[in-house]
Amino acid sequence: MKEVVLSGIRPTGQLHLGNYFGALRNFVRIQEQYRCYYFIADLHSLTTHPHPADFHANVKAILAQYLAAGLDPAKSCIYIQSDVPEVSELYVLLNMLAYKGELERTAAFKDKVRKNPENVNAGLLTYPVLMASDILVHRSNWVPVGKDQDQHLEMARVFAKRFNNFYGVEVFPEPHAMDFGSGSIKVPGLDGNGKMGKSEGNGIYLIDDEKTITKKVMRAVTDSGPTAPDSPKPDVIENLFTLLKLVSTPETVAYFDEKWKDCSIRYGDLKKQLAADICAITLPIRERILEIENDDAFLARVVREGREQARESAAATLKEVRKAVGFREF
Ligand code: ADP
Ligand code: TRP
Repeated sequence: MKEVVLSGIRPTGQLHLGNYFGALRNFVRIQEQYRCYYFIADLHSLTTHPHPADFHANVKAILAQYLAAGLDPAKSCIYIQSDVPEVSELYVLLNMLAYKGELERTAAFKDKVRKNPENVNAGLLTYPVLMASDILVHRSNWVPVGKDQDQHLEMARVFAKRFNNFYGVEVFPEPHAMDFGSGSIKVPGLDGNGKMGKSEGNGIYLIDDEKTITKKVMRAVTDSGPTAPDSPKPDVIENLFTLLKLVSTPETVAYFDEKWKDCSIRYGDLKKQLAADICAITLPIRERILEIENDDAFLARVVREGREQARESAAATLKEVRKAVGFREF
């Protein structure tokens, strides 16, 4: 039996190069080695009350982007969270073993309370319970998530162990963070602000066209150039090289590295090359996104098959969970 990998993403915004190189590309790579579940966390996104008129389009956009980047419904189970009612049922049951104090102490919750004091809803408080339900409903072994989700994953382990102990069963394995080793990198932004991210507003998106990408790269923050041979690179320049290493050939990287070292580097040339090499990777994906977004029959089939597979796996878990809890048929 293959070990189970699961990851979810909230349908807010578009996927950027950070999502692609930090997550998606690895999700694609491991599809044959593991039983993979990749889902769109539409229930989670309701904590921020998205407008009903935009909701479906947001889910569809992320789904098309996942598929265009190489997630393969023939290899992995790709589904929409709200299509699997077993997730919500497990959430109710796990909520009975989740304590207010521990939920209130969650860093992400405290952060949200601070930022949006007008919308501290119970869904926000129990966000980690819903996330644990996502993970445990398929009895997942591995969860590839960024550092910011470590605490949520730890809570999933706590709830899994607590359920097993409380009911004296071995229904849930302990899920662990999946680390992609040398493949796990932090993609920097080009505005000198560290990480590329949605909320940072510095994203280069898979859906961006050539003109947009070129404009974003040409605007990247730089310095006034190296002043002495072999001097260390300041962060903003290191960021450019980090991106270059992701998208360009080793020869190209070595070429600009030499130019940096002997102080003959021209940032304009570096940026032009970087923009061209980003485009070489993302434009074919963009083409596929546009194609897939217009293929409603294909999307409907992917979603239906994903739902069937996910529900089958989830129903098998819920059967054991319900038995453990003491539900019996009349
Ligand atoms: P964002 O930071 O834009 O809100 P998410 O938190 O939705 O992105 O991240 C989804 C996935 O993409 C996570 O696995 C996360 O680790 C990865 N990811 C996001 N930004 C980056 C980045 N700049 N570098 C590497 N991985 C990233
Ligand atoms: N909380 C995750 C995020 O914000 C999204 C998510 C929901 C998730 N359920 C999950 C990630 C289960 C991994 C596993 O990025």
